[in-house]
Amino acid sequence: MTRKTVRIAMNGVTGRMGYRQHLVRSILAIREQGGLELGDGTLLWPEPVLVGRREHALAALARRHGLDHWSTDVDAVLAEPDVEVYFDAQVTAAREESIRKAIAAGKHIYTEKPTATGLEGALELARLAHEKGIRNGVVQDKIFLPGLLKLKRLIDGGFFGRILSVRGEFGYWVFEGDWQPAQRPSWNYRAEDGGGIVVDMFPHWDYVLHELFGRVVSVQALVTTHIPRRRDEDGKPYDATADDAAYGIFELEGGAIAQINSSWAVRVHRDELVEFQVDGTEGSAVAGLRRCRVQHRSATPKPVWNPDIPATDVFRDQWQEVPDNAEFGNGFKAQWELFLRHVYAGAPYHWDLLAGARGVQLAELGLKSSAEGRRIDVPEISL
Ligand SMILES: NC(=O)c1ccc[n+]([C@@H]2O[C@H](COP(=O)([O-])OP(=O)(O)OC[C@H]3O[C@@H](n4cnc5c(N)ncnc54)[C@H](O)[C@@H]3O)[C@@H](O)[C@H]2O)c1
Repeated sequence: MTRKTVRIAMNGVTGRMGYRQHLVRSILAIREQGGLELGDGTLLWPEPVLVGRREHALAALARRHGLDHWSTDVDAVLAEPDVEVYFDAQVTAAREESIRKAIAAGKHIYTEKPTATGLEGALELARLAHEKGIRNGVVQDKIFLPGLLKLKRLIDGGFFGRILSVRGEFGYWVFEGDWQPAQRPSWNYRAEDGGGIVVDMFPHWDYVLHELFGRVVSVQALVTTHIPRRRDEDGKPYDATADDAAYGIFELEGGAIAQINSSWAVRVHRDELVEFQVDGTEGSAVAGLRRCRVQHRSATPKPVWNPDIPATDVFRDQWQEVPDNAEFGNGFKAQWELFLRHVYAGAPYHWDLLAGARGVQLAELGLKSSAEGRRIDVPEISL
């Protein structure tokens, strides 16, 4: 087995996503399993170069995980010829400029979503990457979750018949920061810092709907800020200028209709923090992050509407659990492995910067739909 070391510049690894999901659960997990076998006698060994703004935080991270390379100088790291991949998990507002530089330096790109703050910038990144001939990928972690993998399996197996509708419910209460600290970074609640639930979540809904059910062809959204004042990490009050809830309807190619509520101002009365109910002519399913339950038409009860009698059916008990039938690893790691195989073994990969731009487009049009109070067509984009 030939061992090939791949140096990956990882920018934003001190953040929530960069550290936990990408560094620890993906790149370091690949090292813990002994590297990534490419199937041609090559063993890929990822060597992260931690990049960020705070020297002491990077040094502490490197020490904690026995890593040798970190830097606060992104330009210097990009100038190193043996750094072949650039990864970005910075705050959204800082992403576009850094990726642009990395493309110019000829690095392969892997990045968190949203890829940019507007469609024009996101498309430009996709075009620049294409012209430069570099490989590129955008995180689409939700479709690698066990619950959604099981849902995909049901779709591929023809379980649903004709799919009629998708009902998504996402969210939880994000504390305001006054009597209990908020559990998400405060920039998410300031539009001027790239925050907002639409720019955060609509890119996810775009690829989930596109990959599982069909391209989104129109969007209608009502977007609001339920909690207008919050307190930041230092306890300082600030105006929440970004939206914290979005109620969206998405028309899909093929005719199905999706309706997804996204909110950071909702209390959970569900089994999981996101759930999708899919109804089809032959059966229905409810999928969350990990679980998926089904009800076939042959086992569908016949409730009769009568408010005078208390309901005796325990409706949740009438669903059947879809078994795992496979080992599900961490979704972020699974996608990293696919991306590295794409770069170093030429494996097919379509979750690229163009797909990322589609997500940014849906967010932009969702906000426009809400501002103008109308349904908006989503034109197909290309390079
Ligand atoms: N795929 C997912 O499920 C998912 C979930 C949450 C967040 N995200 C995305 O990941 C990115 C990071 O989100 P997070 O929740 O980890 O944020 P975070 O605030 O925890 O981390 C942000 C990182 O960016 C760095 N940074 C660079 N420039 C900065 C600036 N000007 N101000 C503040 N920080 C700056 C910070 O040092 C930190 O390392 C966002 O783009 C977000 O949309 C993706």
